[in-house]
Amino acid sequence: MKHKKMNEFPLMDPSKGLVLFYPDISPNAINSVNETLSGRWIGQGPKVESFQNEFTKKFLHSGSSLAVGSGTDALHLAYILAGINDGDEVLAPAFTCTATNIPLLYLNANIKFIDIDPKTMNLSLEDIKQKVSPKTKAIVTVDYGGIPCEYDELKKISAVNGIALIQDAAHSIGSKYGENYVGNQSDFTIFSFQAIKTLTTGDGGMLVMKNANLNERAKKLRWFGIDRAQKQGGIWENDIQDIGYKYQMNDIAAAIGLSNLECFDDIVNARKELYERYLGGLKEVQGISVIQPVSKKTVDFCPWLLTIIVDKNRAGLMKKLRENSVESGQVHYRNDRYSIFGTQKQELPNMDFLEDKYLVLPLHRKMTVDDVDRVVSIIKEGW
Ligand SMILES: Cc1ncc(COP(=O)(O)O)c(C=O)c1O
Repeated sequence: MKHKKMNEFPLMDPSKGLVLFYPDISPNAINSVNETLSGRWIGQGPKVESFQNEFTKKFLHSGSSLAVGSGTDALHLAYILAGINDGDEVLAPAFTCTATNIPLLYLNANIKFIDIDPKTMNLSLEDIKQKVSPKTKAIVTVDYGGIPCEYDELKKISAVNGIALIQDAAHSIGSKYGENYVGNQSDFTIFSFQAIKTLTTGDGGMLVMKNANLNERAKKLRWFGIDRAQKQGGIWENDIQDIGYKYQMNDIAAAIGLSNLECFDDIVNARKELYERYLGGLKEVQGISVIQPVSKKTVDFCPWLLTIIVDKNRAGLMKKLRENSVESGQVHYRNDRYSIFGTQKQELPNMDFLEDKYLVLPLHRKMTVDDVDRVVSIIKEGW
């Protein structure tokens, strides 16, 4: 890969202006972590179980969930449980965090990158329909910026072809598809609670499986392949048949997650308010459009990112924003450009068209609608 020098702006110090991301931590989390640190369990203990239960109560109608150490852990487990093996073809997003695709390389899968839909930057359904083949084992989606993909269509494609649908919902916790929270659509859904995500545990993740029968195997895979309950029950003759990992969440993370979950609706409402303010402010700005839902089923979404498409001179706008102490950035980068995914950039016309045009602006609860207005007025001045 040739390194292009596009973004010459290093991370900004939050005391110097408006940063792109800021962790969202409930004040209760501090007491809860203190209490956890002075108790019996700081590794995987009762708080992990409670966090899993509260998460399930809040977001899921059925299926089962498993709290893990990261969204990447959850993706790796989902791919194993979906039966993805050496050489299997998987349709996956080119535009996402590398975490979506790297675990496919652990399994030596054959990734076929899917182009973006230029309006949402989610997967292009047309490209999926063209690329799905009898060799395809699974489709992996990503709900970019929090806007869910079109799951009615995706479920049809996966049913017709008899393949697994695996949803990377790292960005879209709290979003709904139709009436239902994200987590209820696909065979597997994964969530990330990494530091800057809408719901954070510091680092953490959740694997949601539609087929609850997979839970026992998933639990073992999370912990070296061992039946941990039996082991803790004193049974040492406890065979390991499946090579497992060390992918569990710990009680310190779960304590943070439980406190943050209590104020989750406030988090979502505040994020929606900031997003709407940007949308209103940027509506009539020439040369700028905001990535937003295009279908009725996805309008009730919780924004994680505010992404704009800048028709001309993105670097100039970034510079202008930085001169006014506002951080902006790309966040994700098309994965097909990385050497680990192959040496050649793939033919992805929509991605080609947008790769030098998209830009993410600050959206987090350390900022106010006045901050949004300031960013909008800087943009309106031109660059
Ligand atoms: C789309 C997407 N998938 C997966 C991940 C991985 O999550 P984690 O950092 O919790 O492993 C991230 C972000 O970190 C992400 O943005």
